[in-house]
Amino acid sequence: MADLVKFTIDGRELEAAPGTLVVEAAKRAGIEIPTFCYYEGYSLQAACRMCLVEVEKMPKMQVACTLPVAAGMVIKTNTPQVAAARKSTLEFLLTNHPLDCPVCDKGGECELQDMVFRYGAAESRFADTKFHVDEQQWSPVVFYDGPRCILCFRCVRVCAEGMAVGALGVINRGVTSLIAPNDGDYLECDECGMCIDICPVGALTSGPYRYKTRPWEMEHIGTICTHCSNGCKTTLGVRNDEIIRGNNRDRSGINGEFLCIKGRYAFDFTDHPERLQSPLINDGGKLEPVSWSKALAHVAKKFQDIKNRNGKFGVIGSTRTTNEENYYLQKFARLGLGTNNIDHHRSGDVVSLMDALHGRSDVLASSADFYNRKAILIIGSDFSLEQPFLAFQARANHRHHGAHIYVATPREVREDSYAKLAYRAAAGQEFEALEKMRDALAAEPELVIAFDDSIKGDRVGALVAFGDSLGIPVRYCCLADYSNSRGAMDMGLLPDVLPGYQRAQSPGMTATEMVAAIDLDALWIVGSNPLEFAPKTWRKTFIVVQEMFLTETARLADVVLPAASAYEKNGTVTNVCGEVQKLKKALNTMGTKPDLEIMGLIGREMGLAKLLGPWFPDPVFEEIRNTVHGYKLPLPVIATGGAVQAIPVNGPIGVPVRAELIQSTHDNLFTSGNLGKYSRILNSVLERRTGPAPEEWEPAKH
Ligand code: SF4
Ligand code: SF4
Ligand code: SF4
Ligand code: FES
Repeated sequence: MADLVKFTIDGRELEAAPGTLVVEAAKRAGIEIPTFCYYEGYSLQAACRMCLVEVEKMPKMQVACTLPVAAGMVIKTNTPQVAAARKSTLEFLLTNHPLDCPVCDKGGECELQDMVFRYGAAESRFADTKFHVDEQQWSPVVFYDGPRCILCFRCVRVCAEGMAVGALGVINRGVTSLIAPNDGDYLECDECGMCIDICPVGALTSGPYRYKTRPWEMEHIGTICTHCSNGCKTTLGVRNDEIIRGNNRDRSGINGEFLCIKGRYAFDFTDHPERLQSPLINDGGKLEPVSWSKALAHVAKKFQDIKNRNGKFGVIGSTRTTNEENYYLQKFARLGLGTNNIDHHRSGDVVSLMDALHGRSDVLASSADFYNRKAILIIGSDFSLEQPFLAFQARANHRHHGAHIYVATPREVREDSYAKLAYRAAAGQEFEALEKMRDALAAEPELVIAFDDSIKGDRVGALVAFGDSLGIPVRYCCLADYSNSRGAMDMGLLPDVLPGYQRAQSPGMTATEMVAAIDLDALWIVGSNPLEFAPKTWRKTFIVVQEMFLTETARLADVVLPAASAYEKNGTVTNVCGEVQKLKKALNTMGTKPDLEIMGLIGREMGLAKLLGPWFPDPVFEEIRNTVHGYKLPLPVIATGGAVQAIPVNGPIGVPVRAELIQSTHDNLFTSGNLGKYSRILNSVLERRTGPAPEEWEPAKH
């Protein structure tokens, strides 16, 4: 490491690596230099002049956000001259600013408001008529109020650099400068809301949140996004049992402040009018509302009757229910109902990966590895659309550390634009593309390989053999679709694999086999829609469905039990990298129950309470910690909202994996399997739609 440079700020002797910016050196020493345009992790702008400081032997004041420290530099941040400069800058920024703090969404958490309180002038010399343009709506989620904009260009940079979308630019000059969207008067982009989040003032506001509440009127609850497998922390702003917004401004999770449209806005399924709020029983071909006690007693009696006559059960679990629920469900199936007929929608071949890596350590990639490791190889996945947070990490890694990105995908992907090598690989021809990259990959000091369902079955072993042949340290990530797809596999929602990837003695039926079977006596489906394409008359057995909505599967059920969503319960989920994080209950939806409680109550009615144990998240997680390989994780870290990677790699699993059963849905930014159908926001964005021209879409308000 290069020698540290010695300098002083406000009389304090400090040292930092050469090249460190004065603003950063001061921050590390606990000295605040106010900034607007400077934003850690993005290119330097020096647009706002808020960070001016005095530097001895320099005749003019200097911008601390672009000035690197130098040996012997004497910096002053608290002189009368600096105070006057800050005051003038604020006075200038307020020239055309409308001062509508009482109604502005940003009021209470606005950086400009805070700065004016601390450094600003009570009076302005600019008393002329303010330059005004009307507010514009650029998309269902992004609104722009030009007069509030202080032209810090954070939004432009986060969109171009962070998202690699580049949907925002600047038009006009001087006082008439405005931020403009990429398609004239509307946006065509990721709709991630990162620009709104990073805007220091209320110039960019969010469609679903605007004018609804004030920040201090909400409770802020950190939980995990329930959409894709990346496991972003989302802090939900909740008021009166309604989620009003999602963000992660406190950067408390693995994702820092990143969220895609789904984590930021697609919580709106929770209050969708079609949400189920009462149990339903099929009465003569029609589903009729009944009480919870009647519904549970009916299910328990039927299950018990079928069990007593040695009938055949099938159980299909979910990729979004918690680890505790998945563990409890398989335990119920295996011990309570005596069947290994249990499965879920598998979207990535983690079983084959765990088998191929058995006996090794340090071979599973964490989400931080996508930001820190020197090279990343992406196979199959349209990474930015299907794995948004991991793709954000990889982009930041390339930008900040110069990491090399390699791509082998069937179609063009966003990563092509900055990849070192990008090859098109049709299905089944991925290894040809890898061979073309072999020399470059072998020259890397280390590598992360992320692969989707294009590599499954025996080909996973072949991929690990390819990784081994490179002669460098390689870590792997098997990409899967949903928030707890990985947890469903780790918890043994599989007919031939028990929790922790232990081989089951007598394999049961797969989900496909259960749906096709003619001899099942009961089919219990929790948070899944396997009968989506079944004929409407498909009713050959006793079907129990735990669901949030009347899905195609629920419509065919004998009993439907209304389930709480991930935002309405506690528990843990495991993301695509095996990182276990805590779900925290943010609200109640009347009439629903968490799936774990529903299972526990059915078990109790059947007299299985002692066998199955308590049906509360904490004791079940404790049992998981004690019995599932790789899950003996430190409780305090998880309990306080941290993430810990579970490493269930153990001995050989030795089950033949049927590759055809592993099918990713390849959801993009604007879809989310069955759940996405009930998000009004996801369904409203232009990018999701295929037909209408912009004129037919929400009119932009000018
Ligand atoms: S919503 Fe996201 S992609 Fe769209 S303009 Fe803002 S930052 Fe860019
Ligand atoms: S819209 Fe917000 S983030 Fe963008 S330039 Fe204006 S003030 Fe800055
Ligand atoms: S990347 Fe995935 S986990 Fe993160 S906010 Fe988007 S959908 Fe949610
Ligand atoms: S923060 Fe330095 S010029 Fe804007």
